[in-house]
Amino acid sequence: MRFDVLTLFPEMFSGMFTTSILGKAQEKGIVSLNAINFREFSGNKHHTVDDYPYGGGGGMVLKAEPIFNAVEHVVAAARAEAGEREPRAPRVVLMCPQGETYTQRKAEEFAKEDHIILVCGHYEGYDERIREHLVTDEISIGDYVLTGGEIAACAIVDSVTRLLPGALGNELSSVTDSYSTGLLEHPHYTRPAEFRGWKVPDVLISGHHVNVDAWRREQSLYRTWRRRPDLLERAELNDKERKLIER
Ligand code: ADE
Repeated sequence: MRFDVLTLFPEMFSGMFTTSILGKAQEKGIVSLNAINFREFSGNKHHTVDDYPYGGGGGMVLKAEPIFNAVEHVVAAARAEAGEREPRAPRVVLMCPQGETYTQRKAEEFAKEDHIILVCGHYEGYDERIREHLVTDEISIGDYVLTGGEIAACAIVDSVTRLLPGALGNELSSVTDSYSTGLLEHPHYTRPAEFRGWKVPDVLISGHHVNVDAWRREQSLYRTWRRRPDLLERAELNDKERKLIER
């Protein structure tokens, strides 16, 4: 899978893309992560990427041309890399607070793609023609405003890459983690069995796997009910569990 992040600050991604799971996933050839400065595609000699809004008002607007040029450049690069194989059209994702709220479900959808282009702005707005004629998705990572789309792009690259086969050392972990199961995760403990007088629940030390699984499931359910009852509607629960939470 290939990610191209279009940004004015590619240096923000250098540590992120080369460290830990993302760095290893690249080394293993599972994913290719690129940060591209779209100022290089401005199409004008002053390398301008923003301009005043038509109709007046404050703030600057990101111009259409640098983004269109940069997207066309990375599409051509991906095609050249694919050789004979005609690559599938990429998703072009705009980071913006007005977008669809990002969820694990969306991460799973993106993980099925071959190529995703993420567009990060730092301005009051984007020229509307970018939205109308180039972008396939608009994504917000939450109801707050960031100074730019870079942190949102990192969240997407990270959450999608960890879902790709082979990216995590332990294949089970992306299947059982919070949200993928529809429930929040149960509590975890490691040694020592007692720390400053606080004991690990006996059941976890009992060695009785059936009881451990039952305890974990119950804790997951309880934690989700307390913290995120909205998730329970879509979670896969058996009849007994449904009755329990509906009481
Ligand atoms: N750009 C600014 N704020 C954002 C947000 N919440 N999500 C995605 N992109 C953004």
